[in-house]
This record gives sequence, structure tokens and C-alpha cells, in this order.
Amino acid sequence: MSSAPSPPGPSLARAALGFPGLESLETPQVVVDLARLDANIARAAALVPSGIAFKPHVKTHKSPDIFARQRVAGAVGATASKPGEAIVFLEAGAPEVTVAYPLTDPRKVRRVLEAAARRKAVARFTADSLAVVEALEAGADGFMSVPVLVELDTGLKRCGLDPQSAAPVELARRIATSPVLTFAGLFTHEGQSYAGPDPATIRATSRAARETMLRVVARLNQAGFDVPVVSMGSTPSLLADGGYEGVTEVRPGNYVFLDLTAIRLGLAQPTDLALGIVASVVSANDTYALIDAGSKTLSSDTRPHAMGGAASFGLVYPLIGNQDQIEPFEVRRLSEEHGWVAREGRDLPVGSKVLVLPNHSCVVANLVDSLTVLAAGAPPVQWPVAARGTIR
Ligand SMILES: Cc1ncc(COP(=O)(O)O)c(C=O)c1O
Repeated sequence: MSSAPSPPGPSLARAALGFPGLESLETPQVVVDLARLDANIARAAALVPSGIAFKPHVKTHKSPDIFARQRVAGAVGATASKPGEAIVFLEAGAPEVTVAYPLTDPRKVRRVLEAAARRKAVARFTADSLAVVEALEAGADGFMSVPVLVELDTGLKRCGLDPQSAAPVELARRIATSPVLTFAGLFTHEGQSYAGPDPATIRATSRAARETMLRVVARLNQAGFDVPVVSMGSTPSLLADGGYEGVTEVRPGNYVFLDLTAIRLGLAQPTDLALGIVASVVSANDTYALIDAGSKTLSSDTRPHAMGGAASFGLVYPLIGNQDQIEPFEVRRLSEEHGWVAREGRDLPVGSKVLVLPNHSCVVANLVDSLTVLAAGAPPVQWPVAARGTIR
């Protein structure tokens, strides 16, 4: 006997879906629920103890409008992935931007430093090799005391020096002897927290990363170095409370929007998600309904850092029918401009609209020129994704 497939996600009432005014929009559009965005920003500000500098990663939204709201809530600087992204936020008035990426080309370093000098702001850099320090030094020629954070690999196995090795102290020493660079402290992205699977495990993972950082701080102190900055950051650490002892600053990014990944990790509810995609059903066959949002709108990212599992390319909530109990579908396949929504024997009429909740909101925001911001009782507003496409 075959049983009905279990629903791919929770059933929600229309009110719980959020995104007021969604039904009247042309599709597809990437939409932001302003009330939820502000609630997520306020929640994060309340979670981080005073005395810890909040320097959110702006790669999530690439939007100076959203960074302005983060600043009002207490952010004192921005974290960027790439030089071009850093420059957009420096030009938009960020008092400090950290380029959280190993730069190997001095021209990129110089461009960031020139933008910071124009805006009387601070630019910081990270390094995990001699080659990167040499590129920073060459790019900073003519500047003074450019802050460099030594990056440690606390478990993600992406960038960063081995914290067990002598390399962090050696690199700090090399930076400290530079005529143009200053050793500013230690840096890590504990993105291994995305392996989850639950808040308790994430808390333990984040705590272990923090303790690793503090052991290297102690070794640097023994070697005669002050370590003014101990910089960590990930949304799972923030929401699972990995603790702050010994940390001087945090850099979460995704927390402003959240997504299905945060729900899967037990760190958010559907009512917290502040970014979605409104799409239309444009065709249907016996197996799939086709929506006008494919990989060029939803991205084909199933989860950050390719960690943990994701069953599909997004959850699809129809904006029709019984609005008290909207049972989701899922996007099973993607063409560039078509999302393949598995019908599972249910109807999804051509011409109807749907809200898609993505696996990873940060990549979705980067796919559009502007975000459509929705608030109850107000017309939709467009916020430019000003740093969109800044991959250099
Ligand atoms: C260096 C660095 N810092 C901070 C973050 C923010 O982490 P999250 O996306 O979990 O908010 C990231 C995310 O990739 C990162 O790469």
C-alpha cells in the first residue's frame, strides 16, 4: 500500500508567511519583509553583549540601506568579502571595513586603502600566508599602520593557519616588522557550525573554535604580542550562543534574512525569514508545475559551504486556496529560468503566484539589481543591491 508523501515543510497560514502585498507584484522578484528584517537586526543586537564590537558581514545583502539599519542597531563597522564590495560600503559611509579575504594582488589592496583614505575611514585586511602579507605590504606602500588580522583555521578547512603550528606567531612577527602594516589580532570564520545538526552541537562547535582562538592568543602573549582584536563570526554561532569570553568582535551576516538552512539547523522559525522570491506558475504537466524562477533567480545553492543536507532548491507556498493552511511544495529541479515544482498529485494552476523560501538567502540577494521591500500599509520600495557582482 502506497502512502501519501510527507509534506516537505510546515503548513502555514497566509499571515504567517509574511511579505505583505506579495500577491500584487509582477514576478519574479526577490522580496524582503521589512518588519522581519528589523526584528532580526534587533534580535542580534540584543544577543551580543555590550563591549563586543558588532561588524556584520555585508556579503549577505550588499545593500547600504540594510547596513544603515544595522548601524542604527549598533554596528560599528562592516565586514566584506571582496575589495569591490568593501569599496561600495566605504563610499556609502561605513567607518571601518574589513576585507575578510586573502588578497594576493597589491592593486586590490591599494584601491581599498585609497577609498578608505578618501572617506577618512579605516580598512583592515586578513592574512594567512607570507604571500598575502607581501601583497598587502606592496599595496600599502606609502600608507601607515594598515591593520592586518592573522586568520586561523578553527575547523572549516577553508582559509586560515593551523592554530597548533608555529605559523600564527611567525606571521604576526613578520607583520609587526613591516614598515606599513600593523598586527591587529586574530580572525576566524567558524563556518563549520553549519554542519549542525542542532543548536546544542553548534554551541559546542562554536565554543571549541573560540577556545582554539584563545589558546593562540595566549601563545602570542607569551611571545610578547598584544592581541587587541579577537574576531569571530557566523550566524549559527550568534543564534546558538557560542559564547563571547575572550572575543572582542563578531561578524555574522546571514542573520538579517535567514533562510531554510537556519530552520534546518533549529535556529529560526518560518516566521523569521525576511527574504523570499515571489514567482508565477507559467506551465504545468502531470508531474511538475513550472515557475518563472530558475537557477538565475533562486541560485542553485543548496546550503552554505556545501555542508549539511538540503532536500530541494526551495520551499514553495502557493498564494491561493485555503489561506489558513498553506501546504508547501518543493522545487526539485532547476533550469536557468524555470523552477520545477513537484506537484505530488496536487494542483498548482497556471497563472497563480507562489512564495519561494530559499536554502541560502545570501546568494539570492546577489542575483538581482534591487530588493523589493514590503511593509504593511506601504507601497513596495526598491533598495539597490549596490555591491552586486563585486567579485573582485
Ligand atoms: C569570513 C566570514 N566572516 C563572517 C561570515 C558570516 O557568516 P554567516 O553567513 O554565517 O552569517 C562569513 C560567511 O561566509 C565569512 O566568510
